[in-house]
Amino acid sequence: MDVTRFLTSLAQTLSTMSLYKPGHSARERVIDRTYALLQDLLLDDQHPDFSFLGDEVVYERSSLRELRDWEWSKRFATMGIQRLEFDPDVTREDFVEFLDEVYVRVANPGAQIDTTEARQTKPLRVRFGALGIRSETDAGRKVLEKEIVTATITYHLGEEIDAIKYMHQEVLKSGELPLLEAEAVVRSLSVAMHGESEMMLPLLMLKEFDQYTTTHCLNVSVLTMALAEHLGLNARDVRTFGVAGLLHDLGKVKIPTEILNKAGKLTDDERNVMQNHTIEGAKLIITSERELDMAAAVAYEHHIMLNGGGYPKRHYQRDVHKASTLVHVCDVYDALRTNRPYRAAWEAEKVLKYLEEKSGSEFEPDIVRAFVKMMRALEGRVAHVEYAEAAAA
Ligand SMILES: [Fe+2]
Ligand SMILES: [Fe+2]
Repeated sequence: MDVTRFLTSLAQTLSTMSLYKPGHSARERVIDRTYALLQDLLLDDQHPDFSFLGDEVVYERSSLRELRDWEWSKRFATMGIQRLEFDPDVTREDFVEFLDEVYVRVANPGAQIDTTEARQTKPLRVRFGALGIRSETDAGRKVLEKEIVTATITYHLGEEIDAIKYMHQEVLKSGELPLLEAEAVVRSLSVAMHGESEMMLPLLMLKEFDQYTTTHCLNVSVLTMALAEHLGLNARDVRTFGVAGLLHDLGKVKIPTEILNKAGKLTDDERNVMQNHTIEGAKLIITSERELDMAAAVAYEHHIMLNGGGYPKRHYQRDVHKASTLVHVCDVYDALRTNRPYRAAWEAEKVLKYLEEKSGSEFEPDIVRAFVKMMRALEGRVAHVEYAEAAAA
């Protein structure tokens, strides 16, 4: 199966369309070839889908190495095509219809792309647009639907939830971290955040207390990426921070749920177990993946306060990694915004005020300032997604 050949042939078809009118043999030939490559692809993968992230193309949850910095990935993304998917029974006619629609955008990059639900009411065998479209196909994915007031995208984080749960189970079972899964979740979240022209924050809402660990690490990953992007980091660094956010509480997989969700005050022993998640997490990460030294640092440092308080206790004074200061703020924000057995969720504004109060003692002032500014600017662009697992459908 040659995914790269299909995509490059697709790009070539779109270029050829600007040179030859419909019906011209050169145009028909290149369409035939690309359609044949698509048929080949469909033999191996009945529902191929692609995400165009600007600097990379993601297929089957991993980045296509050959297409790093591919010009067309950027072009698709700027045309509003971040996601492209095909059904197994796509006909040549469907395919030509799709090419015609995309070609309009190639010829006129400013054209508004119609990714609204109205467009998707007819059963399309080729779908493209923002990330939200992917829900339309697979009944198994249609588990959670939450309309966003300000946007037409529908978010479904079922697959990401499943992937995180799988990751946590693997870590518990084998002590090994499935890094590819972690990276795939972060990529997928990043696509979800950028499905619209302006950034969105898809944040999970907790329904059951035992979903806390999954919900929390997903939200912290989203918030950390948004903040990193807001601070001007490049796309690749943003995702590295996203992985660190996703893994910051990895050590909690080892904590018994009775302690994790205890409504009353923790005993000293229980508190020790709880606080040890920082050291456990760092250990798990560093022994599984040497490359993840930054994520390990974040797992270790994300409860250390600017004034030296917090935990784990350090034997000597040194600065924490910048990523830890970002994750620290996002971590506290998400924790306070969530219902816990011992406390109801706080309103967003109350949490922002709290962060500002603790700025300079607990948190890095620059980071708090940036975070508060970002959250206020994103008001109305936070999508509260209900928790549902894709596998449960
Ligand atoms: Fe933590
Ligand atoms: Fe946390």
